[in-house]
Amino acid sequence: MDKFIVANWKMNNDFSDIPVFVDYLKENASGEKNMIVCVPSVMVKTFADTATGIAEAGAENCYYLEKGAYTGEISPQMVKSAGATTVLVGHSERRQLFGETNELLNKKVLAALDAGLKVIYCIGETLEEKPNYQEVLRKELVEGLANVKSFENLIVAYEPIWAIGTGKVATIEDIDEIHTFVKETISSNFGANVPILYGGSVKPSNSGEILSLDSVGGVLIGGASLKAEDYVKIVKSRG
Ligand code: PGA
Repeated sequence: MDKFIVANWKMNNDFSDIPVFVDYLKENASGEKNMIVCVPSVMVKTFADTATGIAEAGAENCYYLEKGAYTGEISPQMVKSAGATTVLVGHSERRQLFGETNELLNKKVLAALDAGLKVIYCIGETLEEKPNYQEVLRKELVEGLANVKSFENLIVAYEPIWAIGTGKVATIEDIDEIHTFVKETISSNFGANVPILYGGSVKPSNSGEILSLDSVGGVLIGGASLKAEDYVKIVKSRG
């Protein structure tokens, strides 16, 4: 299976960037599989409609309930009906800036899987937590993935928080060691084997080496996914 190349636009780009981005993919990456572009929620439907048959659309977040008086939230069912295949859950910015806990994220994971979405569940440690990364990641996995029945649509993204948007990338040895730990933890707690994406300052100049690791099932890209040229270079680097 082709490794996943997942873009995360965060709160960047706008509607005018969508046709430009998709046209570039059409011309330079047609036929490539497992390209997923997560965009701000208001743009999901436009991205999905524009990129049909070329790339998959994803949302960057959703709530865990289907409907009701939750001003400002969107449900997994809405994400799905907008044409997205995928949703990011528990990105470190959601955890750090918006106070999302493992308990809340677990509800989101279960609800999004139930709605038929692929879930990219994000985990990672801060610089202070780095010496104890095993404890932090184990807790995020065990609590965040509790009661998941089928892991078929589940993907985990490991993103060391100190490497996000900082230009600092974990060493290739660190990535391999930590991905192996994450895989073993999921296997021993849930008996499952899921793709583990790496994220944090991934760019065209380092993606080939990262994607060459057997323990890496793909990459989650922030800054370098905003321009289609860089995104496609990363797609092509999966070899
Ligand atoms: P970055 O972001 O590639 O800009 O470091 C990655 C992410 O936060 O998903």
